[in-house]
Amino acid sequence: MSADPLLTVDGVNAGYGETKVLHDLSLEIHEGEIVSLVGRNGAGKTTTLRTIMGIIQPTAGTVGYRGEDVSEVDATETVQRGISFVPEERRIFPELTVMENLEIAHIGGGDDADAMSIEEALGMFENLQDRTENHGSSLSGGEQQMLSIARALVGGADVILLDEPTEGLAPYIVQDVMDIIEELNDRGITVLLVEQNVHVGLALADRNYVINQGEIVWEGTSAELEADEEILDTYLGVTA
Ligand SMILES: Nc1ncnc2c1ncn2[C@@H]1O[C@H](COP(=O)(O)OP(=O)(O)OP(=O)(O)O)[C@@H](O)[C@H]1O
Ligand SMILES: [Mg+2]
Repeated sequence: MSADPLLTVDGVNAGYGETKVLHDLSLEIHEGEIVSLVGRNGAGKTTTLRTIMGIIQPTAGTVGYRGEDVSEVDATETVQRGISFVPEERRIFPELTVMENLEIAHIGGGDDADAMSIEEALGMFENLQDRTENHGSSLSGGEQQMLSIARALVGGADVILLDEPTEGLAPYIVQDVMDIIEELNDRGITVLLVEQNVHVGLALADRNYVINQGEIVWEGTSAELEADEEILDTYLGVTA
């Protein structure tokens, strides 16, 4: 694998006050990869993403980005450095139009010369193109997910952290979201994909990490994971 990793989580402990969630968790992501983090309900997937973003800070270990220790960097600064989080609850502004949602994200990304233009992003999301004057609240779940991803792109994301982007979506929309993830990756964006739907992770990811009770219990390629019935069954509840 090429050079140094772009993003590293190294021996991290993190949680919420007295609740310790992540235990000595390590993972790394290289530039241009799609890496999936899969595991059951409550395994610590979202907590891992929050720790990378600086929404919560590790009590031990480090988060590194481009060779720098960013463990203490807060979420606003993390976004400006090029890491973007698309949370499960799809944070868009329902009372603003699609265009306004994108404009705010574009400004919020800071002075980033590499940020994708709103025009280019709309070119990727056909179903948003015709709805730029519609309010966020009038979009379907799938369209809100697309808008949420588009906001990350126009905010200048180099790395995008996706928290269960296909959750609750109809199967044909799941495929649209998967296509978008592949396309943004083709454009050079590095992806950390959290999924409970292991099939989505397997289809898209170069490498996968399996998390259980706050610990990484397995890592490997999608082909290796697909072939490992015991891991699938024990940690992911998938019967092959
Ligand atoms: N704000 C919080 N305060 C206290 N405990 C929390 C908080 N958020 C999550 N937890 C706990 O941390 C653990 C891990 O939660 P986390 O949300 O990271 O899991 P997850 O893998 O994302 O699960 P899911 O698949 O349900 O989204 C759970 O036991 C959860 O109850
Ligand atoms: Mg979660």
